[in-house]
Amino acid sequence: MISRTPWWIRIPVLFFIIFGLMEYFIDSGAKPAFIEYPITQVFMLMVLLILVAIELILKSIENVMFRTLSPEAQERYLAAKNKKVEWTWGKELYARLTKTKAIEKEGEIILDHNYDGIRELDNVLPPWWVYMFYATIIFGVVYLVRFHIANDYDQQLEYEQEVAAAQIAIEEYKKTAKNLVDVNTVELLTDASDLNAGKAIFTTNCVVCHMADGGGGIGPNLTDKYWILGGGIKNVFNTISEGGRDGKGMVAWKNSLRPVEMAQVASYLLQFQGTTPANPKDPEGDLYEDEESIEPEEVEPATQKATETDEVVMNN
Ligand code: HEC
Repeated sequence: MISRTPWWIRIPVLFFIIFGLMEYFIDSGAKPAFIEYPITQVFMLMVLLILVAIELILKSIENVMFRTLSPEAQERYLAAKNKKVEWTWGKELYARLTKTKAIEKEGEIILDHNYDGIRELDNVLPPWWVYMFYATIIFGVVYLVRFHIANDYDQQLEYEQEVAAAQIAIEEYKKTAKNLVDVNTVELLTDASDLNAGKAIFTTNCVVCHMADGGGGIGPNLTDKYWILGGGIKNVFNTISEGGRDGKGMVAWKNSLRPVEMAQVASYLLQFQGTTPANPKDPEGDLYEDEESIEPEEVEPATQKATETDEVVMNN
């Protein structure tokens, strides 16, 4: 029944340990669990009440048992309970690291000289300080040999290695966080799995207006180099996400597709570029050249201006 730590330390410590464990094990994203899931607040309140209850129970058990003891046993019990925790090993360590002379023994190390009553003690350097000094010497020697004689590596190399490692970490992260793409970060996906997913999305959502081969119908031809709203992965992603011009029938798909799905379908439909569909719709919009692949302009019929395009207005 002898408990050294008082209840006002025990309860908060246990409480925060349980709280910490809860936060550690409950995956609540960026927010702490007790904000994300308010039910955990109720849980912690219960924990607190239970801890208090346990304290009270222990206290009363101690009381009852105490009363059953004989008077001298009671005395012994109290003596044991009040005995202070002795930090003997800590005190010894402290003495060894400082090697201070006790005030009563100062006479042993007092120096002879005496300046108007001011006298000097010949204390040794404190071992903790001396050890640290030795450690710096060893460090210095190792450093000198490693970087000035053996030329192990330099800051430049260290920097490059860290950047390379970070690059790998970014790639890894991107793989797990594909859904984070937006119009600024989207890149053309080339993995077969992404393209297949894109094809599936295209087949379910887009063929009614763009045709399975991208030849166009209600929507414009996606196989040519002429784009009303701009070609290239970023523009196409943006069009799919935000929709076409008002009243044309191309809705903003961001409401029904996730970012990664829009990136997949955009990458998929860009594969139509240069293919010949069964019933190609006349090119609409402006010729769009990728900055990367500027090819000599093909002789193609001049297109109508985007604003003049006569589009079927969907009655949706
Ligand atoms: C209801 C018919 C319809 C559906 C369904 C539809 N689109 Fe469209 N789409 C259009 C129309 C109409 C336009 C032209 C918009 C404009 O002129 O502003 C267009 C334009 C586009 C453009 C831009 C073409 C250009 O020349 O700039 C892209 C890219 C596109 N759609 C992709 C898709 C994808 C991907 C889907 C499926 C997720 C889809 N569309 C579903 C009708 C549709």
